[in-house]
Amino acid sequence: MAAKRKKNDDATIDAIDLITLLTPPGAAGCYECEISRAAPGEEFDLIKIAAELPDIPEPIQRKPETIRPKEPSGAGNRQSLPSQSQPDLGNKNIQKSDKDLESLLSGMRKPSRPNRIEPLPDIAEDSLERIASEIAQCQKCALHKTRNKTVPGAGPQNSRLVFIGEAPGADEDASGIPFVGRAGQHLDKIITAAGFKREELFICNILKCRPPENRDPALSEMICCTPYLQRQLRLLKPSLIACLGNVAVKFVIGPDTPGITRIHGEWFNSIFEIPTMAMYHPSFLLRDAKRDKGSPNWQMWQDIQTLKKRYDALLQ
Ligand code: URA
Repeated sequence: MAAKRKKNDDATIDAIDLITLLTPPGAAGCYECEISRAAPGEEFDLIKIAAELPDIPEPIQRKPETIRPKEPSGAGNRQSLPSQSQPDLGNKNIQKSDKDLESLLSGMRKPSRPNRIEPLPDIAEDSLERIASEIAQCQKCALHKTRNKTVPGAGPQNSRLVFIGEAPGADEDASGIPFVGRAGQHLDKIITAAGFKREELFICNILKCRPPENRDPALSEMICCTPYLQRQLRLLKPSLIACLGNVAVKFVIGPDTPGITRIHGEWFNSIFEIPTMAMYHPSFLLRDAKRDKGSPNWQMWQDIQTLKKRYDALLQ
């Protein structure tokens, strides 16, 4: 009995991995829906599930940009990132045979996704206000049951730079405004010290609703929510994105991206095909009061100055 349960659990995990692998961000529906199609007690038929999933878009090569400005002297030994190896998802027409699926799964260290987001259909007269009002009505995932306010994001339509965090916390859930709690105030200090004005930036999150107890966003929640972010970016057309923290980095840049302590300050091409800098999350920076050379706050200070230089270059 226990062995059977273990086998079913393993199959569930395999199914989640496979569906995560094969579901493009922005695809309608969440992978839990696919999993729930299996009758209780029935073993998952991976081949059948995979065959029903949408076609996979052709992956593009994710390339860390080679335009990282010179480190200030003594900034440590960070090196430019080696090229990211993506699982070979093949060309457009993957034949979802047993053999292909086996080899896809066996080559995978962890679930991965194509690194380009599916284009959304055009929406006539789309606007930031319309997106915000749709978010306010949204019930695509369970977070709507526990939220107080939705937090679509804030900033002017002509922002050249978008900051993307993880998800609203308690203060944001109460106010409907992103990054207004302790982490937000720390972010404000950093961006102001670097010479940005908050009013000129668009600041938002991957998730537009607070996860209970500030737990990490679930992949399914991110997949449900990302079309809103995608529409916001389509309207804003920013020249640059700053991605705050591991969760946002792994979603926006790619799931196989090394941890933020290794790649903060680096530029990447994101799934939105907009130059994106990986940055520490301000909550992480609050955990360490140190400001001395090499500390995370010091590193963030180097990174934000790099970002500011590139931002200023846009305006010239
Ligand atoms: N943390 C985030 O990632 N986003 C917020 O809006 C607040 C805290």
